[in-house]
Amino acid sequence: MSVISLTDCSHAVSLPDGSSLGLLANVSVALEKGQSVSVRGRSGSGKTTLLSILGLLLTPDAGQVHVAGASLDGATDAQRTRARRATIGFVFQSASLVPNLTAYENVELPLLQGGDHSRARRRQAVAAAMDRAQITHRRTSFPRQLSGGEQQRVALARALVRSPAVIIADEPTASLDVATADRVLALLLERCREDGTSIVIATHDPQVAQHAHRRLTLDDGQLHDE
Ligand SMILES: Nc1ncnc2c1ncn2[C@@H]1O[C@H](COP(=O)(O)OP(=O)(O)OP(=O)(O)O)[C@@H](O)[C@H]1O
Ligand SMILES: [Mg+2]
Repeated sequence: MSVISLTDCSHAVSLPDGSSLGLLANVSVALEKGQSVSVRGRSGSGKTTLLSILGLLLTPDAGQVHVAGASLDGATDAQRTRARRATIGFVFQSASLVPNLTAYENVELPLLQGGDHSRARRRQAVAAAMDRAQITHRRTSFPRQLSGGEQQRVALARALVRSPAVIIADEPTASLDVATADRVLALLLERCREDGTSIVIATHDPQVAQHAHRRLTLDDGQLHDE
């Protein structure tokens, strides 16, 4: 059974001039457990939109979304949010950390939002996630005191802290130098191998895509295998 699947999903956005821009046209794709999938495509082709739908942040205009075999058809916002929090961790292009919280507190945040952990369990989960992202040594630093790569590793720890089944990464290494980008990517793919976490990565970088099990291109509303 796939972790997340889209069946015949279509989505359009309305432009300021009142016209409509189709981004997805009857797209079907299934993400399997432990699979890494890259999505390439020109700027504006709809990669972020596709990842938002896969990440349950956005409901497509038409089509079916299934999470672990269960349809989200007719789900309320609260049910969708619950499914998202239980299943998905996000890493974005810029780390988007909360500036007035320390690295540790940023990583802890998803656990506090979930509200389902004791203090001791939280401490353990945060320590494990920071360890995996190799950022434990900066736990008391604030985001402004961290380099871009360190901030991105805090963001990765935050995405991992609830041991999500799926990581959605939207150009996670675009703001990093090559060596740091490689390191962040290697960490992401290691999760995939060791924990059976599934990963979807939108990227412009052919080198990044090369590491994925399945390489897709989004073009003119259609997904193609490269
Ligand atoms: N909510 C929205 N309202 C109006 N237009 C939108 C909305 N979201 C996205 N768009 C438009 O849809 C198109 C696709 O956007 P999207 O962010 O998915 O592209 P992308 O492939 O991720 O691009 P990039 O590589 O630059 O990140 C763009 O032209 C964008 O301006
Ligand atoms: Mg984008």
